[in-house]
Amino acid sequence: MPTKKPSIGWIGTGRMGYEMAARLAKGGADVLVWNRTREKAEPLKKYGARVAEDLSELATRDIVFCMVSTWKDVKQVVSKLLKGTAKTKLLIECSSISLEGSAELRQILQSKKISYLAAPVSGNAKVIKAGKLSFVCSGPKKAFVLARPYLDLMGKNSSYVGEGELARIVKICHNVFLGVVTQSLAEITVLAQKAGVPRHAFLDFMNQSVMGSTFTRYKTPAFVNLDFKVTFTPQLLRKDMDLGLDAGRRFEVPMPLASAARDLIQSMIGQGWTEQDFATLLLQQAGASGIKLKPENVEVGDGLS
Ligand SMILES: NC(=O)c1ccc[n+]([C@@H]2O[C@H](COP(=O)([O-])OP(=O)(O)OC[C@H]3O[C@@H](n4cnc5c(N)ncnc54)[C@H](OP(=O)(O)O)[C@@H]3O)[C@@H](O)[C@H]2O)c1
Repeated sequence: MPTKKPSIGWIGTGRMGYEMAARLAKGGADVLVWNRTREKAEPLKKYGARVAEDLSELATRDIVFCMVSTWKDVKQVVSKLLKGTAKTKLLIECSSISLEGSAELRQILQSKKISYLAAPVSGNAKVIKAGKLSFVCSGPKKAFVLARPYLDLMGKNSSYVGEGELARIVKICHNVFLGVVTQSLAEITVLAQKAGVPRHAFLDFMNQSVMGSTFTRYKTPAFVNLDFKVTFTPQLLRKDMDLGLDAGRRFEVPMPLASAARDLIQSMIGQGWTEQDFATLLLQQAGASGIKLKPENVEVGDGLS
């Protein structure tokens, strides 16, 4: 006998949440979405999702996903969700938050007998559209097994790393690497350019080399043509660098490169570069090197399509 498919609730349709919920709905899941700014969720109707008036409506859903900004925001939305009696069996939390926040959330959910999977992600909105998002998950293995078909609708890979909040530290490490690599890529790109190599030629070589990666390839159009439309804000990256440095203190691990990269991100924010992508680290580096960059207007691929 066919079993009824679980109903899904989705909290948060920002840059990431919107594209993730879109993939779920397009994949045939029964999705009810809620976003604080409702208009941002409305276009999801064209994929078959329904939009809730009030967050409390999601308490009737079997599985609820959450993708907001910080732990403070997660706590706010989850406490609104759980105000009444929640029928939800599983909450899957995908925002990048601290180990401590995640552990507090686990306690809150345990007291309501709701299972909880920590499932932060790697990739930006364009990566999601290309079907290349990856999840790192921790919590009860049973929760991972239940979540897996839906994670598979949204991304190419889900790694299960164990019980509790382990996924959180993996994601924090990942984003510390993102900050350090982006600053390093900015430094060497400006160095090569100042010595006379056009950015597109330099990055063409780097991308094909053993040091090239999915990330260096998809940041190449921004670095070459200076299109800094936001994929990830400098403020959210600073949050993650701070989470990494906090974890370094807690576990007594020196993080000299992460500390330097964190302060360079801070100085970019301090100068008012907050409305563009975090890849404006390149512009800050060029300024510190006494050059002003111009778009090269060369067509370069992002490696995603
Ligand atoms: N962008 C990336 O490349 C990327 C990659 C991996 C992980 N992440 C992580 O994913 C999370 C979301 O990132 P994003 O880039 O999608 O951010 P975003 O575009 O700024 O979206 C944030 C979302 O959270 C909602 N929100 C924030 N505070 C809230 C509150 N107090 N109550 C209710 N809703 C609230 C926003 O609602 P409104 O629309 O009403 O503002 C919006 O839907 C963050 O934890 C980020 O670190 C981002």
